[in-house]
Amino acid sequence: MPSLKLDVRTSTLGSPDLVTFFIKGSAQPAGVPASEFDGAPGSTVLLRDKNQRTLIVGLGEKEKIEPDTIRRSAGAAVKHLLKLGGTDIALDLTAHPEHVAPAVEGALLAGYKFEGFGKDADKKTRGVLTRLQILVKEHELTQARVQARDAEIIASVTNTIRDIGNLPGNMLTPAILAEKAEALAQGRPLTVKIWNERHLKRDGFGGILAVGRGSAHPPRLIVLEYRGGGKRETPLALVGKAVTFDTGGISIKPGAQMDEMKWDKMGGLAVLGILLAAADLKLPLNLVGLIPSAENMPGPDAYRPGDIITTLDGKTIEVLNTDAEGRIILADAIAHARLTYKPSAILEYSTLTGAVVMALGFRRAGLFTSEEKLRDALVVAGKTTGELVWPLPIDDEYKEGTQSEVATVKQIGGREGSACISASFVKTWAEKTPFVHLDIAGTAWTTKPPAHLEGGATGFGVRLTLAALRAGLPV
Ligand code: BES
Ligand code: ZN
Ligand code: ZN
Repeated sequence: MPSLKLDVRTSTLGSPDLVTFFIKGSAQPAGVPASEFDGAPGSTVLLRDKNQRTLIVGLGEKEKIEPDTIRRSAGAAVKHLLKLGGTDIALDLTAHPEHVAPAVEGALLAGYKFEGFGKDADKKTRGVLTRLQILVKEHELTQARVQARDAEIIASVTNTIRDIGNLPGNMLTPAILAEKAEALAQGRPLTVKIWNERHLKRDGFGGILAVGRGSAHPPRLIVLEYRGGGKRETPLALVGKAVTFDTGGISIKPGAQMDEMKWDKMGGLAVLGILLAAADLKLPLNLVGLIPSAENMPGPDAYRPGDIITTLDGKTIEVLNTDAEGRIILADAIAHARLTYKPSAILEYSTLTGAVVMALGFRRAGLFTSEEKLRDALVVAGKTTGELVWPLPIDDEYKEGTQSEVATVKQIGGREGSACISASFVKTWAEKTPFVHLDIAGTAWTTKPPAHLEGGATGFGVRLTLAALRAGLPV
Protein backbone atom coordinates (compact mmCIF):
# COMPACT_ATOMS: atom_id res chain seq x y z
CA MET A 1 0.00 0.00 0.00
CA PRO A 2 1.35 3.47 -0.85
CA SER A 3 2.26 5.63 2.11
CA LEU A 4 0.04 8.51 3.11
CA LYS A 5 0.80 11.80 4.78
CA LEU A 6 -1.83 12.95 7.27
CA ASP A 7 -1.69 16.66 8.14
CA VAL A 8 -3.90 18.46 10.66
CA ARG A 9 -3.70 22.19 9.85
CA THR A 10 -5.51 25.50 9.99
CA SER A 11 -5.24 26.20 6.24
CA THR A 12 -4.50 24.20 3.12
CA LEU A 13 -1.00 23.42 1.99
CA GLY A 14 -0.46 23.52 -1.79
CA SER A 15 -3.60 23.10 -3.87
CA PRO A 16 -5.46 20.04 -2.71
CA ASP A 17 -8.99 19.10 -3.73
CA LEU A 18 -11.17 20.60 -1.01
CA VAL A 19 -14.11 18.84 0.64
CA THR A 20 -16.67 20.88 2.57
CA PHE A 21 -19.54 19.43 4.58
CA PHE A 22 -23.04 20.80 4.12
CA ILE A 23 -25.91 20.59 6.58
CA LYS A 24 -29.33 20.35 4.99
CA GLY A 25 -31.26 23.58 5.37
CA SER A 26 -28.24 25.89 5.68
CA ALA A 27 -27.67 28.67 3.12
CA GLN A 28 -27.53 27.16 -0.37
CA PRO A 29 -23.96 27.21 -1.82
CA ALA A 30 -23.56 30.03 -4.38
CA GLY A 31 -24.45 29.00 -7.91
CA VAL A 32 -25.90 25.61 -6.92
CA PRO A 33 -29.69 25.36 -7.30
CA ALA A 34 -31.54 23.39 -4.60
CA SER A 35 -32.92 21.14 -7.33
CA GLU A 36 -29.36 19.92 -8.04
CA PHE A 37 -28.12 19.55 -4.48
CA ASP A 38 -30.26 19.36 -1.36
CA GLY A 39 -27.63 18.19 1.15
CA ALA A 40 -28.94 14.65 1.62
CA PRO A 41 -26.36 12.46 3.42
CA GLY A 42 -23.57 11.48 1.02
CA SER A 43 -24.91 13.54 -1.91
CA THR A 44 -22.25 15.61 -3.66
CA VAL A 45 -21.79 18.59 -5.93
CA LEU A 46 -18.49 19.51 -7.56
CA LEU A 47 -17.42 23.14 -8.08
CA ARG A 48 -14.47 24.06 -10.27
CA ASP A 49 -12.49 27.25 -9.95
CA LYS A 50 -9.37 27.71 -12.15
CA ASN A 51 -6.96 25.42 -10.32
CA GLN A 52 -9.10 24.26 -7.42
CA ARG A 53 -11.82 21.65 -7.20
CA THR A 54 -14.25 21.85 -4.29
CA LEU A 55 -16.56 18.99 -3.53
CA ILE A 56 -19.51 19.80 -1.31
CA VAL A 57 -20.88 16.75 0.45
CA GLY A 58 -24.23 16.56 2.22
CA LEU A 59 -24.66 15.52 5.86
CA GLY A 60 -28.46 15.61 5.97
CA GLU A 61 -30.34 17.29 8.79
CA LYS A 62 -28.40 18.65 11.73
CA GLU A 63 -30.28 16.67 14.41
CA LYS A 64 -29.61 13.38 12.65
CA ILE A 65 -25.84 13.76 12.22
CA GLU A 66 -23.93 10.91 13.91
CA PRO A 67 -20.26 9.95 13.72
CA ASP A 68 -21.12 7.41 11.05
CA THR A 69 -22.82 10.12 8.95
CA ILE A 70 -19.52 12.03 8.79
CA ARG A 71 -17.55 8.82 8.20
CA ARG A 72 -19.68 7.86 5.23
CA SER A 73 -19.88 11.36 3.76
CA ALA A 74 -16.10 11.85 4.05
CA GLY A 75 -15.63 8.42 2.48
CA ALA A 76 -18.04 9.14 -0.37
CA ALA A 77 -16.28 12.46 -1.06
CA VAL A 78 -12.82 10.91 -1.09
CA LYS A 79 -13.91 8.03 -3.33
CA HIS A 80 -15.49 10.56 -5.71
CA LEU A 81 -12.34 12.70 -5.88
CA LEU A 82 -10.02 9.72 -6.33
CA LYS A 83 -12.16 8.68 -9.31
CA LEU A 84 -11.41 12.13 -10.76
CA GLY A 85 -7.71 11.49 -10.33
CA GLY A 86 -7.29 13.34 -7.01
CA THR A 87 -4.33 12.43 -4.77
CA ASP A 88 -4.13 15.33 -2.27
CA ILE A 89 -7.41 15.98 -0.44
CA ALA A 90 -8.32 18.45 2.30
CA LEU A 91 -11.38 17.99 4.52
CA ASP A 92 -12.72 21.23 5.96
CA LEU A 93 -13.77 20.33 9.51
CA THR A 94 -13.63 23.84 10.95
CA ALA A 95 -17.37 23.62 11.64
CA HIS A 96 -17.20 19.98 12.87
CA PRO A 97 -14.11 19.65 15.08
CA GLU A 98 -15.78 16.96 17.20
CA HIS A 99 -15.93 14.70 14.15
CA VAL A 100 -12.26 14.62 13.17
CA ALA A 101 -11.89 10.93 14.06
CA PRO A 102 -14.76 9.57 11.93
CA ALA A 103 -13.83 11.90 9.05
CA VAL A 104 -10.26 10.61 8.99
CA GLU A 105 -11.45 7.02 9.29
CA GLY A 106 -13.96 7.45 6.49
CA ALA A 107 -11.41 9.09 4.20
CA LEU A 108 -8.70 6.49 4.78
CA LEU A 109 -11.08 3.54 4.47
CA ALA A 110 -12.43 4.98 1.20
CA GLY A 111 -8.87 5.47 -0.01
CA TYR A 112 -8.15 1.74 0.09
CA LYS A 113 -8.59 -0.43 -2.97
CA PHE A 114 -7.20 -3.92 -3.52
CA GLU A 115 -4.52 -3.40 -6.15
CA GLY A 116 -4.84 -6.88 -7.62
CA PHE A 117 -2.25 -8.33 -9.95
CA GLY A 118 -3.31 -6.96 -13.35
CA LYS A 119 -0.96 -4.82 -15.40
CA ASP A 120 -1.39 -1.28 -13.96
CA ALA A 121 -5.10 -2.02 -13.88
CA ASP A 122 -5.83 0.30 -11.01
CA LYS A 123 -3.78 3.36 -11.98
CA LYS A 124 -5.83 4.05 -15.08
CA THR A 125 -9.13 4.44 -13.30
CA ARG A 126 -8.31 6.10 -10.04
CA GLY A 127 -5.92 8.35 -8.15
CA VAL A 128 -4.07 7.15 -5.07
CA LEU A 129 -4.51 9.12 -1.86
CA THR A 130 -1.06 10.38 -0.89
CA ARG A 131 -1.94 13.34 1.34
CA LEU A 132 -4.95 13.95 3.55
CA GLN A 133 -5.25 17.40 5.10
CA ILE A 134 -7.64 18.02 7.99
CA LEU A 135 -8.57 21.64 8.50
CA VAL A 136 -9.59 22.87 11.96
CA LYS A 137 -9.38 26.13 13.90
CA GLU A 138 -6.17 27.04 15.73
CA HIS A 139 -7.47 26.22 19.23
CA GLU A 140 -8.71 22.79 18.11
CA LEU A 141 -5.36 21.70 16.67
CA THR A 142 -3.99 19.73 19.63
CA GLN A 143 -7.12 17.72 20.22
CA ALA A 144 -7.72 17.19 16.54
CA ARG A 145 -4.19 15.79 16.11
CA VAL A 146 -4.78 13.18 18.84
CA GLN A 147 -8.12 12.22 17.31
CA ALA A 148 -6.63 12.04 13.83
CA ARG A 149 -3.68 9.91 14.93
CA ASP A 150 -5.86 7.31 16.66
CA ALA A 151 -8.23 7.20 13.72
CA GLU A 152 -5.28 6.73 11.37
CA ILE A 153 -4.02 3.79 13.44
CA ILE A 154 -7.43 2.12 13.34
CA ALA A 155 -8.04 2.76 9.63
CA SER A 156 -4.59 1.71 8.55
CA VAL A 157 -4.75 -1.56 10.51
CA THR A 158 -8.19 -2.17 9.00
CA ASN A 159 -6.79 -1.57 5.51
CA THR A 160 -3.89 -3.94 6.23
CA ILE A 161 -6.23 -6.78 7.08
CA ARG A 162 -8.51 -5.93 4.14
CA ASP A 163 -5.46 -6.26 1.92
CA ILE A 164 -4.58 -9.71 3.31
CA GLY A 165 -8.26 -10.63 3.24
CA ASN A 166 -8.54 -9.87 -0.47
CA LEU A 167 -5.77 -12.31 -1.37
CA PRO A 168 -7.19 -15.41 -3.05
CA GLY A 169 -6.82 -18.95 -1.72
CA ASN A 170 -3.77 -19.78 -3.84
CA MET A 171 -1.90 -16.80 -2.44
CA LEU A 172 -3.00 -17.03 1.15
CA THR A 173 -2.74 -20.50 2.72
CA PRO A 174 -2.83 -21.11 6.49
CA ALA A 175 0.98 -21.18 6.57
CA ILE A 176 1.22 -17.87 4.71
CA LEU A 177 -1.35 -16.30 7.03
CA ALA A 178 0.74 -17.42 10.00
CA GLU A 179 3.86 -15.87 8.44
CA LYS A 180 2.03 -12.62 7.83
CA ALA A 181 0.75 -12.53 11.41
CA GLU A 182 4.30 -13.06 12.66
CA ALA A 183 5.67 -10.34 10.39
CA LEU A 184 2.99 -7.86 11.50
CA ALA A 185 3.62 -8.63 15.18
CA GLN A 186 7.33 -7.83 14.72
CA GLY A 187 8.16 -4.45 16.18
CA ARG A 188 4.89 -4.34 18.12
CA PRO A 189 4.38 -5.33 21.77
CA LEU A 190 2.80 -8.65 20.75
CA THR A 191 3.94 -12.23 21.17
CA VAL A 192 3.00 -14.83 18.57
CA LYS A 193 2.88 -18.60 18.85
CA ILE A 194 2.21 -20.77 15.80
CA TRP A 195 1.12 -24.40 15.91
CA ASN A 196 2.00 -26.29 12.74
CA GLU A 197 0.51 -29.69 11.86
CA ARG A 198 2.99 -31.56 14.05
CA HIS A 199 2.26 -29.34 17.06
CA LEU A 200 -1.48 -29.60 16.47
CA LYS A 201 -1.20 -33.44 16.55
CA ARG A 202 1.04 -33.38 19.62
CA ASP A 203 -1.44 -31.24 21.56
CA GLY A 204 -4.68 -32.88 20.41
CA PHE A 205 -6.31 -30.24 18.20
CA GLY A 206 -8.48 -32.89 16.51
CA GLY A 207 -10.95 -30.36 15.07
CA ILE A 208 -8.46 -28.13 13.25
CA LEU A 209 -6.64 -31.23 11.94
CA ALA A 210 -9.86 -32.87 10.68
CA VAL A 211 -10.91 -29.81 8.65
CA GLY A 212 -7.39 -29.26 7.29
CA ARG A 213 -6.59 -32.81 6.22
CA GLY A 214 -8.23 -32.68 2.79
CA SER A 215 -5.88 -29.91 1.72
CA ALA A 216 -2.27 -30.01 0.53
CA HIS A 217 -1.80 -26.82 2.56
CA PRO A 218 -1.81 -27.93 6.20
CA PRO A 219 -3.63 -26.04 8.96
CA ARG A 220 -2.23 -23.73 11.62
CA LEU A 221 -3.27 -22.24 14.93
CA ILE A 222 -2.05 -18.67 15.42
CA VAL A 223 -2.08 -17.24 18.95
CA LEU A 224 -1.22 -13.60 19.65
CA GLU A 225 -0.85 -12.11 23.11
CA TYR A 226 -0.99 -8.46 24.05
CA ARG A 227 -0.30 -7.43 27.63
CA GLY A 228 -1.13 -3.76 28.04
CA GLY A 229 -2.90 -4.27 31.36
CA GLY A 230 -1.88 -5.36 34.87
CA LYS A 231 0.22 -8.50 35.30
CA ARG A 232 -2.48 -10.34 37.17
CA GLU A 233 -5.43 -9.02 35.18
CA THR A 234 -7.32 -11.83 33.39
CA PRO A 235 -7.20 -11.42 29.64
CA LEU A 236 -10.09 -11.14 27.25
CA ALA A 237 -9.95 -13.81 24.53
CA LEU A 238 -10.80 -13.10 20.89
CA VAL A 239 -11.24 -16.09 18.57
CA GLY A 240 -11.64 -15.82 14.77
CA LYS A 241 -12.38 -18.34 12.02
CA ALA A 242 -9.76 -18.23 9.27
CA VAL A 243 -10.73 -20.75 6.59
CA THR A 244 -8.46 -19.62 3.77
CA PHE A 245 -10.79 -21.21 1.23
CA ASP A 246 -14.04 -23.05 1.83
CA THR A 247 -14.98 -25.46 -0.99
CA GLY A 248 -17.34 -27.23 1.41
CA GLY A 249 -15.04 -30.28 1.35
CA ILE A 250 -16.65 -33.66 0.54
CA SER A 251 -20.07 -31.97 1.00
CA ILE A 252 -18.90 -29.70 -1.81
CA LYS A 253 -20.54 -26.32 -2.49
CA PRO A 254 -22.18 -25.44 -5.83
CA GLY A 255 -19.96 -23.51 -8.25
CA ALA A 256 -21.81 -20.18 -8.32
CA GLN A 257 -19.97 -17.56 -6.26
CA MET A 258 -17.73 -20.17 -4.70
CA ASP A 259 -14.85 -17.76 -5.32
CA GLU A 260 -16.30 -15.58 -2.54
CA MET A 261 -15.24 -18.26 -0.08
CA LYS A 262 -11.74 -16.76 -0.20
CA TRP A 263 -13.23 -14.35 2.34
CA ASP A 264 -14.07 -17.15 4.76
CA LYS A 265 -10.98 -16.09 6.72
CA MET A 266 -12.25 -12.65 7.70
CA GLY A 267 -13.16 -13.58 11.30
CA GLY A 268 -9.54 -14.55 11.92
CA LEU A 269 -8.32 -11.39 10.22
CA ALA A 270 -10.64 -9.25 12.36
CA VAL A 271 -8.98 -10.76 15.43
CA LEU A 272 -5.53 -10.06 13.99
CA GLY A 273 -6.57 -6.46 13.27
CA ILE A 274 -7.93 -5.92 16.78
CA LEU A 275 -4.68 -7.15 18.34
CA LEU A 276 -2.53 -5.00 16.04
CA ALA A 277 -4.57 -1.87 16.71
CA ALA A 278 -4.77 -2.53 20.48
CA ALA A 279 -0.97 -2.68 20.50
CA ASP A 280 -0.58 0.49 18.40
CA LEU A 281 -3.10 2.37 20.55
CA LYS A 282 -1.44 1.01 23.71
CA LEU A 283 -4.81 0.03 25.20
CA PRO A 284 -4.50 -0.65 28.95
CA LEU A 285 -5.77 -4.25 28.90
CA ASN A 286 -4.71 -7.83 28.30
CA LEU A 287 -5.86 -9.59 25.16
CA VAL A 288 -5.25 -12.96 23.61
CA GLY A 289 -6.19 -13.57 19.97
CA LEU A 290 -6.64 -17.13 18.70
CA ILE A 291 -6.89 -17.77 14.97
CA PRO A 292 -7.49 -21.34 13.84
CA SER A 293 -6.75 -21.56 10.12
CA ALA A 294 -7.39 -24.33 7.60
CA GLU A 295 -8.31 -24.81 3.97
CA ASN A 296 -11.50 -26.85 3.54
CA MET A 297 -10.93 -29.12 0.54
CA PRO A 298 -12.09 -32.50 -0.72
CA GLY A 299 -9.16 -34.90 -1.13
CA PRO A 300 -8.06 -38.49 -0.59
CA ASP A 301 -7.61 -37.91 3.14
CA ALA A 302 -10.42 -35.38 3.67
CA TYR A 303 -12.76 -35.76 6.63
CA ARG A 304 -16.19 -37.10 5.74
CA PRO A 305 -19.82 -37.06 6.85
CA GLY A 306 -20.25 -39.68 9.58
CA ASP A 307 -16.74 -39.21 10.98
CA ILE A 308 -16.44 -38.77 14.74
CA ILE A 309 -13.72 -36.35 15.75
CA THR A 310 -12.28 -35.58 19.15
CA THR A 311 -11.67 -31.92 19.93
CA LEU A 312 -9.04 -30.48 22.26
CA ASP A 313 -11.04 -30.80 25.49
CA GLY A 314 -12.22 -34.34 24.72
CA LYS A 315 -15.70 -33.48 23.48
CA THR A 316 -16.55 -35.45 20.33
CA ILE A 317 -18.41 -34.28 17.23
CA GLU A 318 -20.44 -36.40 14.83
CA VAL A 319 -19.74 -34.82 11.44
CA LEU A 320 -22.77 -34.64 9.14
CA ASN A 321 -21.78 -32.00 6.58
CA THR A 322 -18.15 -31.12 5.91
CA ASP A 323 -19.24 -27.65 4.79
CA ALA A 324 -20.03 -26.77 8.41
CA GLU A 325 -16.27 -26.66 9.06
CA GLY A 326 -16.01 -23.31 10.87
CA ARG A 327 -17.62 -24.53 14.09
CA ILE A 328 -15.17 -27.46 14.23
CA ILE A 329 -11.99 -25.38 14.09
CA LEU A 330 -13.58 -22.84 16.45
CA ALA A 331 -14.35 -25.61 18.97
CA ASP A 332 -10.64 -26.38 19.36
CA ALA A 333 -9.60 -22.73 19.56
CA ILE A 334 -12.29 -21.82 22.09
CA ALA A 335 -11.38 -24.82 24.25
CA HIS A 336 -7.73 -23.75 24.11
CA ALA A 337 -8.67 -20.19 25.11
CA ARG A 338 -10.71 -21.44 28.05
CA LEU A 339 -8.24 -24.04 29.32
CA THR A 340 -5.02 -22.07 28.87
CA TYR A 341 -6.01 -18.47 29.60
CA LYS A 342 -9.13 -18.70 31.82
CA PRO A 343 -10.28 -15.46 30.14
CA SER A 344 -12.89 -13.09 31.55
CA ALA A 345 -14.90 -13.57 28.34
CA ILE A 346 -14.53 -15.03 24.87
CA LEU A 347 -15.54 -12.97 21.82
CA GLU A 348 -15.67 -15.04 18.64
CA TYR A 349 -15.88 -13.79 15.04
CA SER A 350 -16.80 -15.95 12.07
CA THR A 351 -18.36 -16.08 8.64
CA LEU A 352 -20.26 -19.01 10.07
CA THR A 353 -23.59 -19.37 8.29
CA GLY A 354 -25.43 -18.46 5.11
CA ALA A 355 -28.51 -18.43 7.37
CA VAL A 356 -27.49 -15.21 9.11
CA VAL A 357 -27.37 -13.50 5.72
CA MET A 358 -30.92 -14.70 5.04
CA ALA A 359 -31.99 -13.31 8.43
CA LEU A 360 -30.19 -9.94 8.50
CA GLY A 361 -28.79 -9.19 5.03
CA PHE A 362 -25.53 -7.34 4.45
CA ARG A 363 -25.67 -4.35 6.85
CA ARG A 364 -25.84 -6.08 10.22
CA ALA A 365 -23.89 -8.91 11.79
CA GLY A 366 -25.66 -11.43 14.04
CA LEU A 367 -24.79 -10.93 17.71
CA PHE A 368 -25.35 -13.99 19.88
CA THR A 369 -24.78 -13.81 23.63
CA SER A 370 -26.53 -14.39 26.94
CA GLU A 371 -24.49 -11.60 28.57
CA GLU A 372 -26.74 -8.55 28.61
CA LYS A 373 -24.06 -5.99 29.42
CA LEU A 374 -21.73 -7.24 26.69
CA ARG A 375 -24.61 -7.26 24.26
CA ASP A 376 -25.61 -3.67 25.06
CA ALA A 377 -22.01 -2.45 24.87
CA LEU A 378 -21.54 -4.02 21.44
CA VAL A 379 -24.83 -2.66 20.13
CA VAL A 380 -23.75 0.85 21.17
CA ALA A 381 -20.27 0.40 19.65
CA GLY A 382 -21.98 -0.79 16.46
CA LYS A 383 -23.97 2.42 16.23
CA THR A 384 -20.96 4.69 16.74
CA THR A 385 -18.78 2.84 14.24
CA GLY A 386 -21.45 1.98 11.69
CA GLU A 387 -20.48 -1.69 12.10
CA LEU A 388 -24.00 -2.62 13.09
CA VAL A 389 -24.87 -5.74 15.05
CA TRP A 390 -28.27 -7.22 15.79
CA PRO A 391 -29.02 -9.51 18.76
CA LEU A 392 -30.27 -13.01 17.94
CA PRO A 393 -30.99 -15.81 20.44
CA ILE A 394 -28.49 -18.40 21.64
CA ASP A 395 -30.62 -20.22 24.28
CA ASP A 396 -30.06 -23.87 25.11
CA GLU A 397 -33.28 -24.86 23.32
CA TYR A 398 -31.20 -24.64 20.12
CA LYS A 399 -29.09 -27.53 21.39
CA GLU A 400 -32.06 -29.91 21.22
CA GLY A 401 -31.45 -30.61 17.55
CA THR A 402 -27.78 -31.46 18.02
CA GLN A 403 -27.97 -34.42 20.38
CA SER A 404 -26.01 -37.34 18.97
CA GLU A 405 -26.33 -41.09 19.52
CA VAL A 406 -22.63 -41.63 18.94
CA ALA A 407 -20.79 -38.47 20.04
CA THR A 408 -21.01 -35.60 22.55
CA VAL A 409 -22.79 -33.51 19.90
CA LYS A 410 -24.03 -33.62 16.32
CA GLN A 411 -22.34 -31.02 14.14
CA ILE A 412 -25.56 -29.60 12.66
CA GLY A 413 -29.29 -29.45 13.40
CA GLY A 414 -32.08 -28.71 10.96
CA ARG A 415 -32.33 -25.80 8.53
CA GLU A 416 -34.76 -23.89 10.71
CA GLY A 417 -33.01 -21.47 13.06
CA SER A 418 -29.67 -22.71 11.81
CA ALA A 419 -27.74 -19.49 12.60
CA CYS A 420 -28.87 -19.86 16.24
CA ILE A 421 -28.18 -23.60 16.34
CA SER A 422 -24.66 -22.95 15.03
CA ALA A 423 -24.08 -20.25 17.66
CA SER A 424 -25.23 -22.57 20.48
CA PHE A 425 -23.04 -25.35 19.11
CA VAL A 426 -19.92 -23.18 19.19
CA LYS A 427 -20.77 -21.92 22.68
CA THR A 428 -20.54 -25.50 24.00
CA TRP A 429 -16.72 -25.20 24.09
CA ALA A 430 -16.80 -21.98 26.13
CA GLU A 431 -18.64 -23.87 28.90
CA LYS A 432 -19.26 -21.32 31.70
CA THR A 433 -17.02 -18.55 30.32
CA PRO A 434 -19.08 -15.52 29.20
CA PHE A 435 -19.33 -15.91 25.45
CA VAL A 436 -20.17 -13.72 22.45
CA HIS A 437 -20.51 -15.02 18.90
CA LEU A 438 -20.57 -12.57 15.98
CA ASP A 439 -21.69 -14.12 12.71
CA ILE A 440 -20.16 -11.79 10.12
CA ALA A 441 -21.09 -13.87 7.04
CA GLY A 442 -23.10 -10.98 5.56
CA THR A 443 -20.80 -8.10 6.51
CA ALA A 444 -17.21 -9.35 6.09
CA TRP A 445 -17.05 -8.43 2.41
CA THR A 446 -19.10 -6.60 -0.17
CA THR A 447 -19.59 -7.26 -3.86
CA LYS A 448 -21.98 -4.29 -4.21
CA PRO A 449 -19.89 -1.51 -2.68
CA PRO A 450 -21.63 1.56 -1.21
CA ALA A 451 -20.60 5.12 -2.18
CA HIS A 452 -17.96 5.32 0.56
CA LEU A 453 -16.10 2.03 0.05
CA GLU A 454 -14.55 -0.12 -2.65
CA GLY A 455 -15.67 -3.74 -2.98
CA GLY A 456 -13.98 -6.67 -1.26
CA ALA A 457 -13.07 -7.32 2.37
CA THR A 458 -14.52 -4.73 4.75
CA GLY A 459 -12.55 -5.51 7.91
CA PHE A 460 -15.85 -5.70 9.81
CA GLY A 461 -15.39 -6.25 13.53
CA VAL A 462 -12.14 -4.34 13.99
CA ARG A 463 -13.61 -0.87 14.50
CA LEU A 464 -16.62 -2.28 16.36
CA THR A 465 -14.50 -4.11 18.91
CA LEU A 466 -11.96 -1.33 19.37
CA ALA A 467 -14.75 1.14 20.06
CA ALA A 468 -16.22 -1.25 22.63
CA LEU A 469 -12.83 -1.86 24.26
CA ARG A 470 -11.99 1.86 24.37
CA ALA A 471 -15.38 2.59 25.97
CA GLY A 472 -14.56 -0.07 28.60
CA LEU A 473 -16.15 -3.38 27.71
CA PRO A 474 -17.96 -4.68 30.84
CA VAL A 475 -16.10 -7.96 31.41
N1 BES B 1 -18.45 -20.24 5.19
C1 BES B 1 -19.75 -20.81 5.15
C2 BES B 1 -20.84 -19.81 5.51
C3 BES B 1 -21.11 -18.73 4.51
C4 BES B 1 -21.94 -18.96 3.43
C5 BES B 1 -20.60 -17.47 4.69
C6 BES B 1 -22.21 -17.94 2.53
C7 BES B 1 -20.88 -16.45 3.81
C8 BES B 1 -21.68 -16.68 2.73
C9 BES B 1 -19.85 -21.97 6.15
O1 BES B 1 -18.69 -22.70 6.33
C10 BES B 1 -20.91 -22.88 5.62
O2 BES B 1 -20.73 -23.38 4.54
N2 BES B 1 -21.98 -23.06 6.36
C11 BES B 1 -23.08 -23.86 5.95
C12 BES B 1 -23.55 -24.65 7.14
C13 BES B 1 -24.52 -25.73 6.81
C14 BES B 1 -23.83 -26.84 6.04
C15 BES B 1 -25.10 -26.27 8.08
C16 BES B 1 -24.18 -22.94 5.43
O3 BES B 1 -24.37 -21.86 5.96
O4 BES B 1 -24.83 -23.32 4.47
ZN1 ZN C 1 -18.42 -24.24 4.90
ZN1 ZN D 1 -16.88 -21.64 6.01
